[in-house]
Amino acid sequence: MTVMPADLSGIDVRAEIERLRKERNAVILAHYYQKPELQDLADFVGDSLELSRKAAETDADVIAFCGVKFMADTAKILSPDKIVVLPDLDAGCSLEDSCPPEKFRAFREAHPDHIALTYINCSTEVKALSDVIVTSSSAETILQQIPLDQKIIFGPDRHLGGYLSRKFNREMLLWPGVCIVHEAFSETELLKLRAQHPNAPIAAHPECPPHIVDHADYVGSTSGILQYAKTMAGDTLIVATEPHIIHQMQLAIPDKTFIGAPGADGNCNCNICPYMALNNLEKLYLALRDLTPRVEIEEGLRLAAKKSLDRMLDMASGTIGQGDLGSR
Ligand code: 13P
Ligand code: SF4
Repeated sequence: MTVMPADLSGIDVRAEIERLRKERNAVILAHYYQKPELQDLADFVGDSLELSRKAAETDADVIAFCGVKFMADTAKILSPDKIVVLPDLDAGCSLEDSCPPEKFRAFREAHPDHIALTYINCSTEVKALSDVIVTSSSAETILQQIPLDQKIIFGPDRHLGGYLSRKFNREMLLWPGVCIVHEAFSETELLKLRAQHPNAPIAAHPECPPHIVDHADYVGSTSGILQYAKTMAGDTLIVATEPHIIHQMQLAIPDKTFIGAPGADGNCNCNICPYMALNNLEKLYLALRDLTPRVEIEEGLRLAAKKSLDRMLDMASGTIGQGDLGSR
């Protein structure tokens, strides 16, 4: 279905967003991978764990989620009485797509002695089939609380699962999903870039494959990488995650230089998340005006998914969203 773009000529979109934010008693949440203009007008910018916490505790009537669908779904699971809108409902995630619920259910049934530790980048149905949800900033804290003799299925991100498995010397059955954005970094181009900047450390997200993570001086969630950028000794950092996070780094530490790690073409543009990029100011304005596209979840499914999310929020307490995966 082709949706005709709305004619917004003559409308001051930013002023209208401000008016509607107050009129609707709305809170605007944005992930670090959103366009700078969305980050700049958000009430809160954060990583997946921080955004889940904000969504659970806000007293706003409307949550306008500038992120992807599984994030808006999480907000609705945790705050069912609020209206949750996502500027573009097609903002999905390759990890979510890689893990159809019926296949995940069959996988679980084939391994009845395993618990499912599941990355938050998945559908509500998969959350409902899981025991504990993790984000990249809470995964380490949570994994350490699971008894060593407990067998674990980790999905859907095989790179995050593989990273945890190697770091903790703990075998896990890995679901074979990947993030297409982090998968696109090129080791050859990264090494060329490091040769040009021999004193610059590399910070990588654990969604990156091992041939990227193995070169990193720091591995962590988006908020962890941001924290590392603020505290590292040098003045230049190579950033191996979605490049829109560099906006927050430039705002926080304008004197330092941040270089996006390159993709196979030597250009970091192929590492822009195509799903996150669907959201823009105009769609946010329309979402606040029309209170649509709205996220709705059937109540039985919501309650089932909430159990594994609540477990995460309990087990992650103390995790302040600062990249618990930490330095390697
Ligand atoms: P975090 O912000 O939790 O690090 O997640 C990264 C990501 O890929 C979100 O889709
Ligand atoms: Fe999904 Fe990767 Fe985009 Fe995050 S960056 S939303 S994991 S495709």
